Amino acid sequence: MQSHPAASILVLHGPNLNLLGSREPEVYGHDTLVDIDARLASQASAANIRLDTFQTNSEGALIDRIHAAKNDGSVFIVINPGAFTHTSIALRDALLGVAIPFIEVHLSNVHAREPFRQHSYLSDKAIGVICGLGAKGYEFALAAAISRIGNAAKA
Ligand code: DQA
Repeated sequence: MQSHPAASILVLHGPNLNLLGSREPEVYGHDTLVDIDARLASQASAANIRLDTFQTNSEGALIDRIHAAKNDGSVFIVINPGAFTHTSIALRDALLGVAIPFIEVHLSNVHAREPFRQHSYLSDKAIGVICGLGAKGYEFALAAAISRIGNAAKA
């Protein structure tokens, strides 16, 4: 008999987000990525949902992780693609290719910043987009993902 891994949510952090805490804190806040991931892990565990988090500075590694999500039980993705948001058709294609629903998160309000940050290659394909709410944005996105998974299970 084929075994199916338990449903899980995948949180992806793109380039330079490993520097959170020390990187332009006036823009991105003082929380480190470890702080953020730890809060998400306890939020998921309180909801009895498996959570995987992954950060990379490499576009290829991010795409490979999305491909792997197709076969590891991931049913929802929360992604802060960092600067790849504004540059990567390949990232858009990867998310569409695995057909896993996703929420796009940005710590800063990209619409209040430089013009080049105001276009996203992902937003029109996302279930939703959260920006400008700092690290809390990840928690809101995870809550939405958990609620969607619950509703799908009841359907
Ligand atoms: C970011 C916004 C992007 O424009 C930027 O390149 C980042 C972080 C954010 O979380 O606000 O690296 O995605």
